Amino acid sequence: MASVVGTHVLAISAVLSMVLSLSSAVDFNYPAVFNFGDSNSDTGGLIAGLGEELNPPNGDTYFKKPSGRFCDGRLIVDFLMDAMDLPFLNSYLDSIGTPNFRRGCNFAAAGSTVLPATASAVSPFSFGVQVAQFFRFKERVLELLANKGHKLDKYIPAEDSFNQGLYMFDIGQNDLAGAFYSKTEDQVVASIPTILLEFETGIKKLYDQGARRFWIHNTGPLGCLPQNIAAFGKDPSKLDELGCVSSHNRAAKLFNLQFNALYKKLQGQYTDANMTYVDIFSIKLNLIANFSRYGFESPITVCCGYGGPPLNYDSRVPCGETKIINGSSVTARGCDDATEYVSWDGIHYSEAANLYVSNQILTGKYSDPPFSDKMPFLLKQKF
Ligand SMILES: *[C@@H]1O[C@H](CO)[C@@H](O)[C@H](O)[C@H]1NC(C)=O
Ligand SMILES: *[C@@H]1O[C@H](CO)[C@@H](O)[C@H](O)[C@H]1NC(C)=O
Ligand SMILES: *[C@@H]1O[C@H](CO)[C@@H](O)[C@H](O)[C@H]1NC(C)=O
Repeated sequence: MASVVGTHVLAISAVLSMVLSLSSAVDFNYPAVFNFGDSNSDTGGLIAGLGEELNPPNGDTYFKKPSGRFCDGRLIVDFLMDAMDLPFLNSYLDSIGTPNFRRGCNFAAAGSTVLPATASAVSPFSFGVQVAQFFRFKERVLELLANKGHKLDKYIPAEDSFNQGLYMFDIGQNDLAGAFYSKTEDQVVASIPTILLEFETGIKKLYDQGARRFWIHNTGPLGCLPQNIAAFGKDPSKLDELGCVSSHNRAAKLFNLQFNALYKKLQGQYTDANMTYVDIFSIKLNLIANFSRYGFESPITVCCGYGGPPLNYDSRVPCGETKIINGSSVTARGCDDATEYVSWDGIHYSEAANLYVSNQILTGKYSDPPFSDKMPFLLKQKF
């Protein structure tokens, strides 16, 4: 009898420790965060790097002025930093003022691809360049730290931040979406292994220098971006039941399938690393499908755009800009209430949508491994 009970207890504790080890991979206690990506997590890199300007109403909702983010307010990465009790990330490329890199550095730049940038690319700061920038950053930091007289502790990461920091990734969207302008769907899909090989190369380099904590976002439903609906969805037969471009969403799904397989492979290889993969696609698709339940008025109408419903998007008139169209001057202005819109400018999500996505991430239900009971908080929802 006693031995039966004993076996029972053993079995239960085995199951318990399995559950615990599954859900405890994320402890949200990081000395620093190093982020790599595109506009989904760019906190000012592209604008600073190219010396460009981003007009109001970008930034109006939260920063009260353009903040280098392609959004009315905060991005997912900002909300995640908040959740980790860390300050917003400064961009590596933003040199003026006193950029503080104590708790991390953001290498993301809008328009960036995983694959090396072409001459006509929006951003020259493709993933390989971002990784190279990280290495330069780290080298400079270690050099400064080695100089005993330095007074930069407040501004640069501590040495162990490179091993114990979180390395975050949200990139791939531009490789796919950009390719559709010059390639067939089959060609886009055929290019996925090449994109992922380049991604793997970067991850390997970061691992080899000591990165052990990885946080990877998959790509969203690109076919639901108003920019892509406007360019590829004129013929209704190209659209799915949600009004999204079918080919783009199919490609995004296939990308994510292979991305997840790569993630599993790396997880198997890097047994001394903690890796988290977040299914952003499912979170965003759910938001687009069930937008009204989450407090939004429209999943595809653009808040800051031009042209009127249903999309209110015109690729010739970016958010906040004034252009001459057919001889008359037109401006893409912000809507009255950006919290009613999923799409900010046709390419990027609104702050309200980013908050929704962040809260879904923080439930832990969309990540592998899941961390369901680990989050002590949820961010304040808008409703
Ligand atoms: C990975 O997570 C486990 C469980 O939380 C922890 O014990 C371990 O120290 C972590 N390793 C790294 C490199 O973060
Ligand atoms: C929309 O919500 C319903 C009900 O919760 C759910 O079954 C469905 O999967 C959601 N749609 C998407 C695309 O996630
Ligand atoms: C501009 O003119 C063209 C041709 O006359 C017309 O098809 C189009 O709708 C006009 N666009 C705008 C924004 O007025």
